[in-house]
Amino acid sequence: PIRVGVLTSGGDAQGMNAAVRAAVRTLLRLGAQPYAVMEGWAGAVAGGEGIRPLGWDSVGAILHRGGTIIGTARSAEFRERSGQLDAAAHLLEHGIDRLIVIGGDGSLTGTNEFRMNWPSLVAELAETGRITTQVAQAHPALMVAGIVGSIDNDLVGADMTIGTDSALHRILEAIDDISSTAASHQRTFVVEVMGRHCGYLALMAAVAGGCDYVLVPEIPPAEGWEEDMCAKLAKGRRAGRRESMVIVAEGATDRCGNRITADDVKRVLSERLGEDARVTILGHVQRGGKPSAYDRWMSTLLGCQAAREVLQASPETVPVIVVERHNRIRSVPMMEQVEATRAVKDLVAAGDWEGAVAARGRS
Ligand code: F6P
Repeated sequence: PIRVGVLTSGGDAQGMNAAVRAAVRTLLRLGAQPYAVMEGWAGAVAGGEGIRPLGWDSVGAILHRGGTIIGTARSAEFRERSGQLDAAAHLLEHGIDRLIVIGGDGSLTGTNEFRMNWPSLVAELAETGRITTQVAQAHPALMVAGIVGSIDNDLVGADMTIGTDSALHRILEAIDDISSTAASHQRTFVVEVMGRHCGYLALMAAVAGGCDYVLVPEIPPAEGWEEDMCAKLAKGRRAGRRESMVIVAEGATDRCGNRITADDVKRVLSERLGEDARVTILGHVQRGGKPSAYDRWMSTLLGCQAAREVLQASPETVPVIVVERHNRIRSVPMMEQVEATRAVKDLVAAGDWEGAVAARGRS
């Protein structure tokens, strides 16, 4: 049978298990043999128990579990050529030259680099006697299919990436819980949420949570934002609101690129409004726990499609990522989307926020 490695890489996300389960079972149904590459690329670099065959039952009872049962990591060794040589050699020991990679844009970029390096890695392995020439000739190319797993929802071309919906649920639960204690004390809370350079979680949580103010990296506030924020919060108080909530994305900055932290916001509230505000940094609770219904079914569909794509791939085909876009499961060219995502980040870094929003919107 065709042998396919499945790996999760980068930060975990609720729903990765559903994608792994669906990919593995679809591969089995289609007559292929799936393998788990454990702990992301680290398992390929290490070899041995790092690469294991999977059966139908290996992925049983995981649909509802957060995280990823095959482990994930950000492997430094894999960025070096020596690490990639080891990874290629270990994959070939099992006859694997097809991979389904579930991870963020960094992981997908790493995957593409590995894919591009594959012919020269295989040639070097053959020259140094680590594999035979027959093995080298039988596996001239690495074929990959990607799935975006990241709570940040920062990949251009995908409506929602794996874990985003569950993370939003987690944030909203926290906001709802904080609201009651905030109301008792007539306090303002400043809540920092994850998302790296992307403000999606912050913005959507603020809308869904009925919050008073939100700071996101894509739209850094104009000079004087402190006044604007205080005026809005004061107005709410005058109207009888007992609690106020400000959401700060962890990547929020001002227009000069200086970070605006939750503590900065708290200081402003204390100095200008005399408020005894509290800061809550939600942290990894956002990435933990059960996947939502959406993250289960969407990841299942993505996993099935990725399995089909990787089996159909040939050395000549352009690698794809499987995404949910406009409410449909689609396969889109991997590097086009990763590069478009990079372009948005570069525009944000260069201070062209309108350009960044337009570039993201064009997808
Ligand atoms: O990319 C997902 C994410 O959770 C980001 O939102 C956050 O900035 C980062 O990973 C945290 O990384 P780590 O788990 O390595 O601390």
